[in-house]
Amino acid sequence: MKTAIDVSVVVPTYRERDNLAELTERLFSSLKEAGLQGELIIVDDDSQDGTIDICRSLAEHFPVRLITRIGERGLATAVIRGLQEAQGECLVVMDADLSHPPEAVPELLRPLQTQQADFVIGSRYVPGGSLDESWGLFRRLNSRVAGWLARGLTTARDPMAGFFSLHRRHLTNLNGLNPCGYKIGLEIMVRCGLSRIVEVPIHFTDRTRGESKLSLKEQGLYLKHLARLYAFRFPEAVRFSTFTAVGISGLVLDMLSFALLAPGVGIRIARAAAIWMAMTWNYELNRSITFRQTETSGRLVQYLKFCGACLFGAMVSWSISVGLIEQTTFFSRHPITAAGLGPVFAAVVNYAACRMWVFRSRPAPASPATAPGFAGLLRKPSVPAGDTSAMLNMSGESQNSAALLATTSDTPERTAA
Ligand code: GDD
Ligand code: MN
Repeated sequence: MKTAIDVSVVVPTYRERDNLAELTERLFSSLKEAGLQGELIIVDDDSQDGTIDICRSLAEHFPVRLITRIGERGLATAVIRGLQEAQGECLVVMDADLSHPPEAVPELLRPLQTQQADFVIGSRYVPGGSLDESWGLFRRLNSRVAGWLARGLTTARDPMAGFFSLHRRHLTNLNGLNPCGYKIGLEIMVRCGLSRIVEVPIHFTDRTRGESKLSLKEQGLYLKHLARLYAFRFPEAVRFSTFTAVGISGLVLDMLSFALLAPGVGIRIARAAAIWMAMTWNYELNRSITFRQTETSGRLVQYLKFCGACLFGAMVSWSISVGLIEQTTFFSRHPITAAGLGPVFAAVVNYAACRMWVFRSRPAPASPATAPGFAGLLRKPSVPAGDTSAMLNMSGESQNSAALLATTSDTPERTAA
């Protein structure tokens, strides 16, 4: 179904007043040239730099809407807010600082229109794409490494780009988005399962006005974000690796306790005691880290289940270690090495038992919020408490201004086609 608006362009802003006029003019002239009807949604985090006045005067000439979030900061969540309000069939996200050329927006839409792609990136790292010459070696390297780290999640060459487009019907998991930091595009690709990606080369220009907000803190958040996305995409592999890491820490504890206890209580008892200590240690870590998102029965019951599940593994471990020490000359001279070997064999047995019995997965929660698709979201935008949106202020102040567009309640019902 064709609606009046072909494309909603969502732009997050924080202190970008000097860029807004040029952005708006260049964007709408490129859309006009391509014969596209668009709207620009600026999501500002209460910059208090005159953004509101500038948007008001731009809205007299262009379909520009400003949403001011109060008491909230963050590029990614601002983008999500803008996407919730968007009315176009296609959605584009870009920066305000003109790093992303507004002239490329129609090119970003073409692969969606021809159904060649579900997600299109304005990319710096495909043939024809380029970076501002002013980027130093460190910044280039940093950007490349960040891209490589995301390779397991997507085939995109420039997955961290903040310039991308997608069809609204593919934004199936808007309520399930949970980004931290900057990489909202990567978040959408992974959580909405969009793998048909086309990258359109762009030249990334450095901003000439205003300041970048990317700080070192964002780099740390990126790693955290990646960890979350890998866990989302490959839950079992990540869980098994964590289980293994916990197991290795338990192994170290096991060998240390054995080394301390063996001279006093003898090999057989020392092995049993060390295995039990490591088992308890592993239980605590697995409960709080590896399986923290899964069903948790009562602690004592679960601990006993864990010990029960590990019992076979523990017996395997005990028998191998004690057997090696008592039966071979080599290990009788190196008992701690033997103590370390037993648990390795027990590990696989234990993981299977934990996964199937002790820490069973929760049934997937029903999410009625996402069921009606976009229509429900449009009619009931989730406005966080304390967010006295300036969209309301502006439409209140200038209700006669057609350029400010209808408020969401006037939106005709739309079904995700
Ligand atoms: N609403 C809101 N809130 N907007 C923000 C915030 C915030 O807290 N922080 C930044 N922005 C807006 C900026 O105003 C700008 O429009 C856009 O987000 C990008 O911010 P910049 O500060 O210009 O970021 P950058 O140039 O370092 O990063 C860009 O390039 C990266 C790749 O090198 C962004 O496009 C990133 O997404 C991209 O990964
Ligand atoms: Mn920038």
